[in-house]
Amino acid sequence: MKIAVVGTGYVGLVTGTCFAEVGIDVTCIDIDQKKIDNLHKGILPIYEPGLEEMVSRNVEKGRLHFSTNLGEAIKECDVAFIAVGTPPGEDGSADLKYVLAVARGIGENIDQYCVVVTKSTVPVGTASKVSAEIAKALDKRGADVAFDVASNPEFLKEGAAIDDFLKPDRIVVGISSARAEEVMSRLYKPFLLNGHPIIFMDIPSAEMTKYAANSMLATKISFMNDIANLCEIMGADVNMVRRGIGSDARIGTKFIYPGIGYGGSCFPKDVKALIKTAQENGYDMQVLRAVESVNDAQKSVLYDKLSRHFDGKLEGLKIAVWGLSFKPKTDDMREAPSLVIIEKLLEAGCTVSAYDPVAMPEAKHSLGDRITYAKDEYDTLLDADALLVVTEWPDFRSPNFAVVGRLLKQKAIFDGRNIYDAAELKELGYTYHCIGVKTDHKEVVA
Ligand code: UDX
Repeated sequence: MKIAVVGTGYVGLVTGTCFAEVGIDVTCIDIDQKKIDNLHKGILPIYEPGLEEMVSRNVEKGRLHFSTNLGEAIKECDVAFIAVGTPPGEDGSADLKYVLAVARGIGENIDQYCVVVTKSTVPVGTASKVSAEIAKALDKRGADVAFDVASNPEFLKEGAAIDDFLKPDRIVVGISSARAEEVMSRLYKPFLLNGHPIIFMDIPSAEMTKYAANSMLATKISFMNDIANLCEIMGADVNMVRRGIGSDARIGTKFIYPGIGYGGSCFPKDVKALIKTAQENGYDMQVLRAVESVNDAQKSVLYDKLSRHFDGKLEGLKIAVWGLSFKPKTDDMREAPSLVIIEKLLEAGCTVSAYDPVAMPEAKHSLGDRITYAKDEYDTLLDADALLVVTEWPDFRSPNFAVVGRLLKQKAIFDGRNIYDAAELKELGYTYHCIGVKTDHKEVVA
C-alpha cells in the first residue's frame, strides 16, 4: 500500500512514521521547506520519545519519504491523511483553511481512487466540506476520479504516542462506502493483532467521538480537582477517596488524579470547541462549561497556597519551579499550567528560577528572559524561598531532600502533582503543601 500524510506536525509525523514501521510506503508532506529539509537531515520539529530513531530507521529502509510536493506524492496513493493544523480562529472555532487547502490540492492532483482521511481534530461536519472541496477541484479540471472521504480521529497521548499508535485501544473510522471500509481495514490490519477493535461508523459519529472522548476525560479531571479542593476543606484525603472510587470498575483508576489543571493541545481546545459547536446549534453544554471553569481556577491553586503561606507578601521572593511542560515527557508548552503560575508569580514581584528536562527552549518563546533557566533541578534552589513542583517528570520524583533543604532558604514545598509523601517530608522538617492530600497544615480555601 502507498499512503500520503499531509502535515508533519505531531499527529502527522507520528502517524506517517508508525505506518512506515509496519512496512507501508509513506510520504509525509509539508509546505514548509525548512521542516522537510530538517526531516531529511533527521531533525524533528517535535520531541517524542523513540520517534527520532524510528524516523531514521524507516528512512534508511526506503519506506518513509519527505516532500513538499503534494501533487507528486498524491498521484499513486491509496490513502491520503490530512493532518495539518486547525488553529483556533478569532472566535475560538477551529480554522479549517489549511485542511480545505489540502483537500483542494488533492482534488487538483489525484488520478486514481483514493480515500481521503481527516486525521486533524476537526468540527463535526468537516468531512463533508472536505469532500465538497475535492469534488469542486476535480470538476474544475474536468476529471472524473472516484474518491471517498473518511474520518479517523487520533487518540495519541504525547510522550506515549508511538505505543498508543502501534497498540491502540481501538481505532475509530467514519466511512460512507463499503469500498472505503475495505481500504481502511486493510491499512489498519497490522495494528489490530492485540485483538482490539476497529470500529466503523458514520462520519459525523466518528468526528463526534473524538470530542466526546477528550471531553469525558477532561470532565473526570475537573471533577477530581473539585473533589480534592473539597477534601482540603472537609479534612478528607483525596488519595484515599481516589483509591476508594477507582476500584469501582464503572469509574476506573485512570484520569482521576487531581493536580493543577489539564493543559496541552487537545483537552482545552476540544472542550472549548464542543461547547461552541453546541451553542451554534442551540444547545448548552452545561457540564462542559463547568469543566472549563473548574480547570481555569485550578491553574491558580498552587499560587494561592503559596500566597497564603507567605501571608500575601510575595514581593521580592525567589521561587524555584520544577517542570514547565504541561505534562512529563514532552516539550509541549501549550496551555501549560506553569505559564499561568509563573505569570502570577512575576506579577506579584517574585523572581523565578525554573528547570525542565526538555521544555526550556520551548518555554523561552513565551517567557523569554523574564525568568532564569537553571542547569538542573538543584540549580533552581539556591536561596529560593520555596519550591513549586509543576510537572511530574520522573527526574523530580525522588530528589535528595537533604540537599534540597540545604539549598532552599525555607524548607517549603508546594507540590501541584502530589508526587511526594507528606509524612516523609514532615519528618524531614519540610512544610509541604499539595492538592487535596492530608498534610499537617490546615488548608484554608478561599
Ligand atoms: C490527550 C488524550 O489523552 C489523547 O487521547 C488525545 O488524543 C489528545 O489529548 P495529551 O494531551 O497528550 O492527550 O495528554 P494526557 O496524558 O491525556 O494529559 C492531559 C492533561 O490532563 C495533562 O495536563 C495532565 O496533567 C492532565 N491529567 C491527566 C490530570 O490532571 N489528571 C489525570 O488523572 C490525568
